Amino acid sequence: MTVAVYLPLDDKTQWWVDMLQSLLPGWSVEAMNAVTDPAAVEYAVVWRPRTGDMARFPNLKAIVSIGAGIDHVLSDEQLPAGVPIIRTVGDDLTQRMREYVALHVLRHHRDMPRQLRAQNESDWHAIVVPVAPQRTVGVMGLGNLGAAAARTLADLGFATRGWSKSAKTIEGVTTFAGPDQFDAFLSGCEILVNLLPMTSQTSGILNADLFGKLAKDACIINCARGGHLVDDDLLAALESGTIKQATLDVFHVEPLPADHAFWRNPAITVTPHVASQIDAGTGGRIIAANLETFESTGTCADLADAVRGY
Ligand code: NAP
Ligand code: GLV
Repeated sequence: MTVAVYLPLDDKTQWWVDMLQSLLPGWSVEAMNAVTDPAAVEYAVVWRPRTGDMARFPNLKAIVSIGAGIDHVLSDEQLPAGVPIIRTVGDDLTQRMREYVALHVLRHHRDMPRQLRAQNESDWHAIVVPVAPQRTVGVMGLGNLGAAAARTLADLGFATRGWSKSAKTIEGVTTFAGPDQFDAFLSGCEILVNLLPMTSQTSGILNADLFGKLAKDACIINCARGGHLVDDDLLAALESGTIKQATLDVFHVEPLPADHAFWRNPAITVTPHVASQIDAGTGGRIIAANLETFESTGTCADLADAVRGY
């Protein structure tokens, strides 16, 4: 079996090639750029492949996304139709996202930006906020990451809501499903966390219309994809006071260009797509196991649905 590996950085690619080769001794693992016989490649393991990369391989059995999202694979206009896509999820990816969401929800809840501004001015200014059960927090997307984040927030005592496509039951979380229950989910939310996948249905969902449906002074945390957010709508909502603060981990263009207004807006916290990444070691073992399972059974637990988009 030949596996071709691509990540945007050559040294990272080589690291993954060596690691996967050590985990799959009977297989041949090659950097995509070094492949000399494209017809021999049966599996591709990729993060943000370039347009046309997959179309080079006529005998691909499956594509593995080194990450939970598959949007970076599906965005290739020349992607061969019908090739299964396997995503990579694991406990440390979930744990890191729980930490990131808890950190930034608590930061907004306790109004840390304002407290830090007071410190900057040597101002002994005690900010008293409601206790967590009096704070309504909403999580959009209740999959692997969103459900874990919602449970974490509920455990912290927040009045936690969740929204997904199909109905869910999560202990301690008030759940809503589908477009019909979206407005009820949003109404009264003071902190909104986005953990939706990027699809044609969710693109641009964080927009002026949504901002207007939240509680006054709401905060937004986007740790899913930059394409979910309409940047200008957020800047206008911060300017008008509809939205108080935002934490953004993902952007339309990454790295976020140095001249982007988000960098300099005091109401925005920018983090460089670090909310959660799978540990390379763990991720490698998960990918190797998924490849072996797929090769022997033709399927595996982490198979995504390319038609659905996640
Ligand atoms: P997942 O397991 O595929 O779950 C997606 C959730 O979104 C599901 O609950 C799904 O509903 C819901 N959903 C999808 N389309 C919807 C729609 N149109 N309306 C309402 N709900 C919808 O995804 P995940 O593993 O939790 O990951 C979520 C996203 O996080 C990834 O796609 C990726 O973009 C992002 N991510 C970011 C980072 C980072 O570091 N910033 C790291 C990892 C992942 P159903 O359950 O009903 O299908
Ligand atoms: C990271 O953004 C992922 O999709 O895993």
